[in-house]
Amino acid sequence: MKHSFPIPVRGALRNLSPYSPGKPIWELQQELGLSNIIKLASNENPLGPSPKALEVVAQSLSDLHRYPDASTVRLRQALAAHHQMTPEQFIVSNGGDELITLIAKTFLEQEDEVIVCSPSFSEYEFGTHLMGATVVQVPLGPSFKFDREAIINAVTARTRWLCLCSPNNPTGTYLTRKDLHYILDALPKDILVLLDAAYSQFATASDYTDGLEFVRAGYPVIVLQTFSKLHGLAGLRAGYGAASETLIQQIVKVKEPFNVNALAQIAATAALRDNEHIRLTLETNREGKLQLYHAFQKMGLPYVESMGNFVLVEFGAEAKGVYESLMARGIIVRYGEIWNLPRHLRISIGNREEISALTQAIADILACG
Ligand SMILES: Cc1ncc(COP(=O)(O)O)c(C=O)c1O
Repeated sequence: MKHSFPIPVRGALRNLSPYSPGKPIWELQQELGLSNIIKLASNENPLGPSPKALEVVAQSLSDLHRYPDASTVRLRQALAAHHQMTPEQFIVSNGGDELITLIAKTFLEQEDEVIVCSPSFSEYEFGTHLMGATVVQVPLGPSFKFDREAIINAVTARTRWLCLCSPNNPTGTYLTRKDLHYILDALPKDILVLLDAAYSQFATASDYTDGLEFVRAGYPVIVLQTFSKLHGLAGLRAGYGAASETLIQQIVKVKEPFNVNALAQIAATAALRDNEHIRLTLETNREGKLQLYHAFQKMGLPYVESMGNFVLVEFGAEAKGVYESLMARGIIVRYGEIWNLPRHLRISIGNREEISALTQAIADILACG
């Protein structure tokens, strides 16, 4: 018997589209019957998790009958020491993703507008739609650079939140310190600015800013950070926001008491101090990026210079076919269609062997035409 669903859902849900994650390794393994899958689709750390984090996790397993610290005190103290700020200027979340919905729940009314750049990370739109508010998209400029005038021109009396992702996922382009400063000075002071700096540690440009200097200077900015990328803890889920104490106090009101699990808290605290893992990760990313650039140049494939741990590369009309052929060979990357970039693939920077296998596969696929 077919059941109709009689309970009306919130109107806001009509605009919600589910997050589109990278295909999981197990699923492709099952589909292809392959044991060796290369996943370069979710900007994960190719070296694995921070070894210091693994150590403390192993030591803490027998405490799992205890609830986690609802206030994440130790981790916030470690973050305060790390960034020379106060513990009260931090909120820890179940990944950076949760911070985005927490901000939306704290600040958005239905009549509000949220400015997002396009293409960018999809979760800002998710948070906005969750609250029934309106997304205002501002396209990036030529070469996917941020267009500060277009951003400012998009502001209306209804704008409550501006989301800036730098380095930007999926383009790898970034907002310069000067442009962020210009935008912050031009904005009405009742607009919250999210500077999503999930990939900040990979950025090497001297005019890049992770936004914290503007938090310290008292601008209405919240900086998003994550332990998923540099520290390799994506599976544990830990991220955080850094902002003024008063801003953080408001966001804390909407968070679930135990939003960050116990293992994530201790692992993140240890990973923050794991300088060797951080150093190796950055070195691997730097070398891998050059290896990818070199291969793309050889194959005549245009790519966008990236400040992140991924590269957006243009295949033109063949992009979807290349994506599917890579998948058939057990290599998972991201097809750009989800960002309205049907001619592009976004490829996470893996380790040397993964990149060699990828670029060899691309060369084979293109040669077969
Ligand atoms: C730009 C950006 N921000 C935030 C996140 C959230 O990361 P997490 O929820 O794993 O901390 C991601 C993850 O891919 C991202 O690409």
